[in-house]
Amino acid sequence: MKKNQYASGSGIKRLSINQLAAMKQRGEKISSLTAYDASFSALLDKVGIDIILVGDSLGMVIQGHETTLPVTINDMIYHTRCVAAARRRAFLVADLPFMTYYTPLVAAEQAARLLQAGAQMVKLEGPRNECISFLVDQGIPVCGHLGLLPQSIHQVGSYKVQGKEQTDAAKIIDDAYQLEQAGAGLLVLECIPAGLAREISMQLSIPVIGIGAGVECDGQVLVLYDMLNIGIIKRPRFSKNFMVEAADIEQAINAYHQAVKQLQFPAAEHSF
Ligand code: KIV
Repeated sequence: MKKNQYASGSGIKRLSINQLAAMKQRGEKISSLTAYDASFSALLDKVGIDIILVGDSLGMVIQGHETTLPVTINDMIYHTRCVAAARRRAFLVADLPFMTYYTPLVAAEQAARLLQAGAQMVKLEGPRNECISFLVDQGIPVCGHLGLLPQSIHQVGSYKVQGKEQTDAAKIIDDAYQLEQAGAGLLVLECIPAGLAREISMQLSIPVIGIGAGVECDGQVLVLYDMLNIGIIKRPRFSKNFMVEAADIEQAINAYHQAVKQLQFPAAEHSF
């Protein structure tokens, strides 16, 4: 039988949360994309993407739902296993889906399953500090997610920019600070004004990864299918079709990776 070229023991060192924090310290931008299967996972890893996120966006781009709400923990475990099987270097984060962290205990039980499937960290949406500190106490690293929260779409009403009003911006800053205090090791900021994201990135010591949050975050993440222009839903304004100037998918992913590292993405037209 052919040896799995992505198996551990290949000599490639996996990124840790400490190395991501060190990248922030030395001002090196962190590149991140979503992936949901082994083939894309291997490609992202080969290009050098730093963080692979098994996002619950799979509910929209893989399963064809209108929102991320129908995604179950079993879906997330399945896709996390697929991605984990093929990645060697990238740090692997998996989303806790809707209603899997309504108490700290439930969160710990479900997060443990994602770590057992191969994730190094779980991501959850909103200022859920009690859950975050409980998970961290159990040895489960957590990535927070503030700004636009897709799992709360029926409360928010539409996928719109958050934190434009001063009181909303102040709340996001306070939530970000509390979330770091609770022990989160990473923070995703989605769809907020670039100036607000810059302030939060400067104030926090943990790496802040933006999506629609301007170029001055510590790193960037996009939904893979959006930047490859193969999504079934209209590409959001903050994303970019990297296939336009690429001969193949690997070149498009590499162009994104380089653009993030060199602060060329997101440009003003992708920011708020
Ligand atoms: O599910 C996802 O893909 C995400 C990103 C949009 C950050 O959470």
